[in-house]
This record gives sequence, structure tokens and C-alpha cells, in this order.
Amino acid sequence: MKKVFIKKTLVFSLLLLFAMAGQAQSAETSAKQSKTPHKTKGNPITPTYKRADAPIDTRISDLLSRMTLEEKILQLSQYITGLNDNVNNIGKQEDEYPNNVGSYIYFSDNAKLRNELQRRAVNETRLGIPILFGFDVIHGFRTIYPIPLAQGCSWNTELISQSCAMSAREARMSGTDWTFSPMIDVARDGRWGRVAEGYGEDPYTNAVMGAAAVHGYQGRSLNNTSNVAACLKHFVGYGMSEGGRDYTATNVSRQSLWDTYLPPYEMCIKAGAATVMSAFNDINGVPATANHYTLTEVLKKRWNFDGFVVSDWNAVEQLIPQGVAANRKEAASKAFSAGLDMDMKDGCYQEHMSDLVKEGKITLQQIDASVARILRLKFQLGLFENPYTPSYKESERILRTEDKRIAARMAEESIVLLKNENNLLPLNKNQKIAVIGPMAKDKENMLGSWKGHGRAGDVESIYEGLEKEFGSQLLYAAGCDFDGEDTSGFASACSTASQADVVLLCLGEKREWSGENASRSTIALPHIQEQLTTELQKCGKPIVLVLSNGRPLELCRLEPLCKAIVELWQPGIAGGTPLAGILSGRINPSGKLCITFPLTSGQIPIYYNARQSARPDQGQYQDISTLPLYEFTHGLSYTTYSYGNLSASTMRITKNDKLTVEIPVTNTGDMDGYETVHWFISDPYCSISRPIKELKKFEKRFLKKGETALFSFEIEPKRDFSYINDNGSRFIESGDYYVIVKDKRIKIEVVD
Ligand code: BGC
Repeated sequence: MKKVFIKKTLVFSLLLLFAMAGQAQSAETSAKQSKTPHKTKGNPITPTYKRADAPIDTRISDLLSRMTLEEKILQLSQYITGLNDNVNNIGKQEDEYPNNVGSYIYFSDNAKLRNELQRRAVNETRLGIPILFGFDVIHGFRTIYPIPLAQGCSWNTELISQSCAMSAREARMSGTDWTFSPMIDVARDGRWGRVAEGYGEDPYTNAVMGAAAVHGYQGRSLNNTSNVAACLKHFVGYGMSEGGRDYTATNVSRQSLWDTYLPPYEMCIKAGAATVMSAFNDINGVPATANHYTLTEVLKKRWNFDGFVVSDWNAVEQLIPQGVAANRKEAASKAFSAGLDMDMKDGCYQEHMSDLVKEGKITLQQIDASVARILRLKFQLGLFENPYTPSYKESERILRTEDKRIAARMAEESIVLLKNENNLLPLNKNQKIAVIGPMAKDKENMLGSWKGHGRAGDVESIYEGLEKEFGSQLLYAAGCDFDGEDTSGFASACSTASQADVVLLCLGEKREWSGENASRSTIALPHIQEQLTTELQKCGKPIVLVLSNGRPLELCRLEPLCKAIVELWQPGIAGGTPLAGILSGRINPSGKLCITFPLTSGQIPIYYNARQSARPDQGQYQDISTLPLYEFTHGLSYTTYSYGNLSASTMRITKNDKLTVEIPVTNTGDMDGYETVHWFISDPYCSISRPIKELKKFEKRFLKKGETALFSFEIEPKRDFSYINDNGSRFIESGDYYVIVKDKRIKIEVVD
């Protein structure tokens, strides 16, 4: 490590000398080149790039005209400040790097270090270009919200925007300008740990929720002390990681790329996402880091993306083990030529770009184009005018009452009631409840993976939430740990259960079991937790299973043992009270799954929108059911909703027309509640084989008991019935289409 550092420092010193030699001349030429010198009082000439009133493009070209090649290359380089707690990525000290690097990943939870580094960049470098500070604010900065997979189950895009906006505020006020979020990788394999970080198995859901996140983070303007720039990741196909193993190659057909993996990105680019992160995986043999097709042809040319692309951590160098680059220099050349603007952490660009230019492998125009993208974001964020983060009192910066309120609301709406045999839930206020299991008093694991600066001490445990709701009705026993073989707690758990009317069994996953580099060969809970359930069931008391986990689980052995199952997910800091409210009936559950729960791990991949196939009634597994345990959009309520018939404004439509389809939904039960209506379409006959059904719209509404609401979907055939081919072109064919809501369907004929 040290050797590398010395080598790097030497290389850099040489570069600096070279740069300084060129500076005098460069400053002189730049003064001549500066087209619109601007006189202000006391300051003879303010360079155009420093004038807030000049158009951003003018500022960019002015600044570019003043920069040396080395200064430009530094803008393309991102390093890290200090050590971080991501075990997959070990950090370094900022002192190793020059004052004018383009960006840092910023691991501090306050702005002190940022402001010092920024001061060095602004005051101690020739051009004073401010540094861009980024951090993984995935589901919260200090106030930790439910994991994104849970948020997806809320189907509440407004709430997703709000929690991202609150996270952005905490982050920006603490020195972070840029978050590496949202992750919009369609993920259909629960073994992949990163399934926790996105919005599930469906392209449309990831697209709409991703766009909501982008709006939340970025607000109306990036130049605002409450907003941060978003970063869409991981571009692209990472969610298709083979066998659920992280970082592996993906074999994704061009057809699937276009109809499944690219659409969320396209929608989020349209929503204004400032940056994109390329993925680690290779796509059909060409790593995403060096993929000209995805980065340049699709993203930059077809979609006119004017932000910049950052690599994943050390991913440029990873082109060597991926087998497409002989050394770091070739890796830099391949990644940059493919369209990757910023090199995260590994220094390949800084070390080799200058030589690559000299050798004619990379042109100055290419460098300018990438630097311009990065500078644009710095101008948009207002960093040239306000490079420093003001100092705020901790109480106005983090964990405010409002932040916690939104976190609790998000937890409440993302909880999914999976099973409720004979309406065991809500619990009776007079029942004695035996709270058992390793998750019951746990705090750390409730935070989930990518906990930002979240702390276990901020978390309200399940037990604490229950105490507020049920007080002295509670009994407690741990029963067992998350894993291992120690069954010594079983006896006391069973005796606690026998003193109660109902068992509330709290099981789940540790936070490090999901997230990055956290693949599992099976999505079942460890055997010890299943064993404890079997023992408790022998006591004859009904079991309500509460699950806290970062992926869909294999519940085929647990499900028959439990009368009710509540999926809490990893709710962040404020899950206890919402869960207790749902168990007591104070809150009516409204979450619905955004990812299928397979019956067993062997069913993976299993998802609702599989393509149509030959012999649809055959080809099933011979040893188990082919059906999942809980399908996409499954989620129960304490009230009942009755769906009327679908009606359409017309049953025959031309390709350019619009039609409206409606369905009345009545709350026929005894409790007010939120219901989400999911609108699917199906095209049974087309030039290509399409998915059995495809989600095209969802809407969540509050219905008082007895109330009927008319849900409607305005369909534009070219948008909603069309398909995309393997080259990204959209087609709409004439013929029959179905609009589907639950078990209702209506046929619409599209004519030329
Ligand atoms: C992860 C990214 C993350 C980056 C920076 C990588 O290892 O794959 O999702 O944004 O590290 O922390």
C-alpha cells in the first residue's frame, strides 16, 4: 500500500511540476482568451466562469479555456476522505491527494473536514474549482428510513420523494452534495444481497419510484442548501447477476436489456437525474465500465444525457480481472473511450490520461467534453458561489421530529401483512403476548444495509414500540440468536409462550446479510430460527410471525406453523411504533409486495412478468408447486375491498387515440384504509413474445369504510400497449389487448 502511495505521490509531483511550468503561460493565454472580462468594484477583472450571472455553458467554456490538461484530468478523478465502514471498500487518507481533485467520497457525518478540503481547493489552487462531495445516502443519512425494497411496498411515490428529500436535507447540511442513489436495478433473484437496495422485480415500478427518488433528492433546483444531486445505479443489468452472485457477469439479451433493464434509467434520466454510475458486471462480454453501447450510444447519444457517468468503486481497475485490460493504462483508455467520465477511487485516469493523450489514444476534445459534464454539475449545485457548508446546530440538521415522523410513516406504509388466518390480527388489547425471537429487542439490524450515518441508538426496537402500545400485556424471551446452534434458550421461550395467549415471534436477518457482496445460496432463514418456531408451535399458542429482513424469504416451512405473518422489512429507526399500531389495529396495513416471495429458493428466478412460453400448462416443477408463496402485489388489509367491473370509454381505438378505463372499488369492511390499484396490460399475440402481463400504472388512495372510489387509467396505446424491440425502437401493432386489474380484465381492440 505504502509503495503504491509513494509511487503515486512521485508521479503526481512530476505532474504538478509540469503543470506549474505551464501555468504562467496558460494564465496569460487564458486572460487573452477570456472573451468577456467583467469589471467589478475593487476587483479589476472577474473571470467569466466566476460570474454567477453568466450562462452555465459560457462559464464552462471559459473555465475549460483556462485549465491545463492536468487540471482537467484531476476533475475526472474521485478519491475518498478517510476510512469508511463498508468492508468491501477500504478507504485512504485525503492527504495523499492534491488540493484540486474533482470529487471526494465523503465519509464524515458533519461538514468540518469538507470545509477544510474545500478551502484548500478554493483558496490554494490556481483556478479555485470547488470539490464535489458524494456519499451513499441510500435510505437516509442519519435518520434512517426503511430499505428501498420496503419503500417499494408502500406504493406511495409521494412518501418516497419526501423521505429522499429529508435525507437530502440532512446530507447537504452535513457536507454532502451528491448521493449515489437511487438504485433502480430490476432485481428478480432474492439470493442477490443488493435486492434490498432497489424497488423490486418490475421495470415500471423501479422507473416510477426511481423518478420519485430523483425528484426528492434534487428538488426543483440543485442550487439549494437542502438538495443533493442523484446518481442512478448501477448502469446496467447488474440486477441480473448470475445465480445472485455479486459482481458476476450478466448474460442479458438485447431484448431484455431494452424491455426490462433500461426503462427505469430512461425514465429517471427524463426526470432529470444529474449523474449515472456504471455497474461492475459485464454485459454479454463487455464490462459495463467499458461499454460504449450502453454508456455512449444509448445513454449519451440516444437519451441525450448531459450529466456525467462515474464508475463504481475501483471498477476501472477491475477491467483487468474482468479480462479486457492488460493493465491500468489500458483500463483507463477503454473506460474513458466508452464514455465513463469520472474514475471512482482507483486513480487510473490520473495516472495515465496524460500519456494516453500524448499517444493520441484519447483526444483533448473528449477530455473537455467529460470535464464539461462534471463542471456543469458543480455550477448547477452553486458550488462556485457557495463552496462551503454553513454550520448548523445538530438539532436543526439531523433527526428532527419531522424526519422521524416521515420515517415512521414510511415504515407504516411499507409493512406488508402476508397472512392473517381467521383474522387473528389485530390483537386483542387484553391478550397476553409472548414476544420472542432474536429480532424483538434488536436495534442494529433494523437499520438494514447501507445505514449511512445511522446509529443503533437512534432505533426504536420492536419491543419498545410494543411496550408503548401494549404495556404490561407483554412477556419476553429471546429464544435463540440469529444463527448458530445454541438451543439453550428454547425451554424458557416455550415456558414464556405457554403463559401467554399469543406468541409474537420476531425473526429475521442481520443487516450485513443483505446489501453489497452479501449473496446467499438460499433465501431461507437459518435453521435455528425455524427450529425455534417448530418448538413454539408445540405449545399450542397461535403464532404471529414478524419478519425483519432485506430480501424475500423462503417461508415454506415457517408459513404452516404461523397463523399470521407480518413483513416489517428493515424499517430503519422508526419501525417499532408503526408495527405495534398494525398489530393492535390502530393502523390498517396497506403495504403490498413489490417482489415475489418464492415458495422455495429453487424457484428462483420467479417473477410475475415472465415471458409467455410454449406448453404453458406443462414444464412445471415435478416436486413442488410452480406458484410462488406470495406473488407480486400481494398484501392483506383489515378491511375488505370489493372491485366492480372494468369499463372503457371505447372498446376499439386507433393507435393515436386515447381511452379511459375505470373500475369502482368499495371499502366493504369495518375499517378505513389505503388501497393500491395496480393496472396491468397484456398482449397475447405480437411479433415478439411479451410478458404474461405488464404493470403500467398504480394508484394508492384512502377509502373510508363504506366509501366507493372510481379508479381510472387514461391509456395511450403508443405508450401503454406498445413494445420495444432489441434495438430500442417502439412499435404498436393492431390487435387485441387486455387491461387487467386483479381478476378483472377487459379487451380493447387497437386498429390502424
Ligand atoms: C457500490 C456502489 C457504491 C460505491 C461507493 C460500490 O462498491 O457498488 O453502489 O455507491 O461502492 O460507495
